[in-house]
Amino acid sequence: MKTYEKIYLLLEERDDYISGEDLAQELGISRTSVWKAIRQLEAHGLVIEAARHKGYKLVKGDLLLPKQLEQEIGLPVFLKVDSDSTQLDAKQGIELGHPSPALYLSPYQNKAKGRFGRPFYASRDGGIYMSLRLSPNAPFLEFKPYTIMAAAAVVKAIQNLTNLDVEIKWVNDIYLNQKKVAGILTEAISSMETQTVLDVVIGIGINFHIDYFPEELQASAGNLFEGRPTISRNQLIAEIWNCFLQTDEMELRALYKEKSLVVGKQVSFVENQVEYRGTAVAVTDTGNLVLELKDGRAKTLSSGEISLTSW
Ligand code: BTN
Repeated sequence: MKTYEKIYLLLEERDDYISGEDLAQELGISRTSVWKAIRQLEAHGLVIEAARHKGYKLVKGDLLLPKQLEQEIGLPVFLKVDSDSTQLDAKQGIELGHPSPALYLSPYQNKAKGRFGRPFYASRDGGIYMSLRLSPNAPFLEFKPYTIMAAAAVVKAIQNLTNLDVEIKWVNDIYLNQKKVAGILTEAISSMETQTVLDVVIGIGINFHIDYFPEELQASAGNLFEGRPTISRNQLIAEIWNCFLQTDEMELRALYKEKSLVVGKQVSFVENQVEYRGTAVAVTDTGNLVLELKDGRAKTLSSGEISLTSW
């Protein structure tokens, strides 16, 4: 275990300050090493108060513990503190010959990617940013609905660990109290020659307990925990991937439909610069959205983005 992880565990179990000297003595290291470890914890997004004659106190945040997660999920976990995007880290892992499946994690991302090439807001602290690389090596036609399965796994994990009632806005946004708390981006690397999907990278970003959102997001983005979180980020990460990897695909598809926020609601969408309005009537087994348009016609959407015109 790394020194900063040991210090984190000592800080985490105390509500009060612990002196640098006590920390140094407990771990058999110098005061300078303690100081360096505290700086590392801050780089991981933790807020630590340092007070003269009192020492250090953990004020906010929890540390991502890759080795513990490896044990709990049963996959290699790569953590990069200063990541541009965990999607990129996972893709680099392919080039570097990393084993697959593997999970890529970061406490922050400099250039987080959203759907449709949009940026995704990543906070310096309080977020979960992770990408799972899988190597299905499967023909295009056997491609699994990974996005649907990941969204359902996020919902199932949150249900298992908390009493929060999250819902899914088609295709892959997780909502709580009418605000987006998580987004999912699935990318695939395929071979046109063999008509197979070689690798899949499923990226999940969760607003776990973020203090600040940019003004343009304040009306639409929310936190999973507005107050003090009742679980740690490590617990949620492990539960999400265990739900994803161990739950039967049909169960995940059924949960996706059950927790759909859009079925029965008025929605609008734009196709070829024309705006359509209608009612979302169903989500199919493969995750397509079936709409009944204003003029009575049925329309099936397989991808894209819809707006809810009624909640
Ligand atoms: C969206 O809502 O548009 C999808 C957001 C996906 C964000 C996650 S955060 C982890 C992974 N790394 C990225 O750069 N993007 C995904």
